[in-house]
Amino acid sequence: MRDTFGRQVDHLRLSVTDLCDLRCRYCMGEDGVPKRRHEDILSVEECVEIGRAAVACGVKKIRLTGGEPLVRRGILDIARGLKALPGLAELCLTTNGTALAAMAGPLRAAGVDRLNISLDTLRPERYRAMTRRGELADVLAGIEAAERAGFAHIKLNAVLIGGFNDDEIGDFLALTRDRPWQVRFIELMPMGPCAGWEKDRFLPCDTVPERYPQLEPLPGEGVARLYRLPGAAGTVGLISPLSHAFCDGCRRIRVTADGRLKGCLHSREEVPLRGLRGPALEAAIRRGIAAKPQRHHLTERPSDTPRDMNEIGG
Ligand code: 5AD
Ligand code: SF4
Repeated sequence: MRDTFGRQVDHLRLSVTDLCDLRCRYCMGEDGVPKRRHEDILSVEECVEIGRAAVACGVKKIRLTGGEPLVRRGILDIARGLKALPGLAELCLTTNGTALAAMAGPLRAAGVDRLNISLDTLRPERYRAMTRRGELADVLAGIEAAERAGFAHIKLNAVLIGGFNDDEIGDFLALTRDRPWQVRFIELMPMGPCAGWEKDRFLPCDTVPERYPQLEPLPGEGVARLYRLPGAAGTVGLISPLSHAFCDGCRRIRVTADGRLKGCLHSREEVPLRGLRGPALEAAIRRGIAAKPQRHHLTERPSDTPRDMNEIGG
């Protein structure tokens, strides 16, 4: 269905947990998130019913997010339930990759079509420092496992952070030479712990083609501006929510791990979905789509949402 600004809304990002095994400094505090009661988080059945209702409202693609979706018990049941929905074209999942070595095969078997893997640095020490506990080797093994499991079009997401990983842009680009991956640089959005970080941490994605002018522009795809190194197997995507806001073409709605629909990642407006099913749930989703705000205001002020990224799923 279309929202009031004529945008076709056909993507749902469904957060299946607000918990994560990592503590990335821009996303979470040292202690992680206060653990919610089990019953405050959507059940497997609720996730699948929300997916069904969203598809009835015109959603064609669902992305499972978190927190970290692979720490969610029942993630494979959720994936299987959603994959069985007639009318769903694509089931995707965004993961930090730490558990992928073991989970890639089962996820593929459960019907996940595509994976986005978050990886902000290729240096083990930095990875430990940024995530406060992660091992880079686990993620690299996870990426290999995803390939072996048959996932195509793997996307690697790196949040570009001035003074942290901008000296690794070349190393990230090099990953695309021999592998058909899409390496995507994402502008750091001021929300949660990083909202107060110094200005020079927030680098525009244009830094990438400015420093590597050999990048050849390709026709765009969704929210990413695309490039390729001459002769490379893979591609490079730039996701620039601040410097090139893509709100005009936004096709997404989000559902938080506690079952509230958000028309915009950065807005305060939420439509509670819990306790609803069937036509009442569909009506609530339509209301949420209709109320989708025109745009975010990140260039004027930090995100308006009082929630952290781990509750919304990016
Ligand atoms: N700005 C940009 N990206 C973010 N992510 C988490 N917090 C932020 C932020 N403030 C990213 C993660 C992951 C995806 C789910 O969202 O690194 O790639
Ligand atoms: Fe976990 Fe992603 Fe937040 Fe890192 S950015 S702590 S991987 S949810």
